[in-house]
Amino acid sequence: MAANLHRLAVSAMAKAHAPYSQFPVGAALLTADGRTYSGCNIENVAYPEGWCAETTAISHMVMDGGGEIAEIAVIAKRQAGVTPCGGCRQRLKEFGTPETRIHLCDMDGIIETVTLGELLPKAFGMGERS
Ligand code: THU
Repeated sequence: MAANLHRLAVSAMAKAHAPYSQFPVGAALLTADGRTYSGCNIENVAYPEGWCAETTAISHMVMDGGGEIAEIAVIAKRQAGVTPCGGCRQRLKEFGTPETRIHLCDMDGIIETVTLGELLPKAFGMGERS
């Protein structure tokens, strides 16, 4: 399944709209109940209005009924092992758990898998202690 997420993330990256950064990113997630969703980054000429690949993938999941994120693969052809940005870590936390697996990739496959708990320790959550 993880290899499938890598393939989906590569396909999503090919759809990136990243003319300003020239940094296409793809992401593909697997829900706890076995659904997959992918996304690319979508930039805007008003630079702060763009958003990340992970955010697009999460949007597809939410519009298809929501769910819990079990795994997500992220890829950027210009940076092997790219990790989700800080904002996306918080968005992943919204629909994931500290055990959510994040697959860091290069063009050939997954090169490292980390957990959301490792990437976002002591995460903000209203009323939660982590
Ligand atoms: N980007 C993502 O899509 N995901 C990340 O986690 C890191 C950054 C995008 C945003 C922007 O379009 C480009 O990469 C350069 O920052």
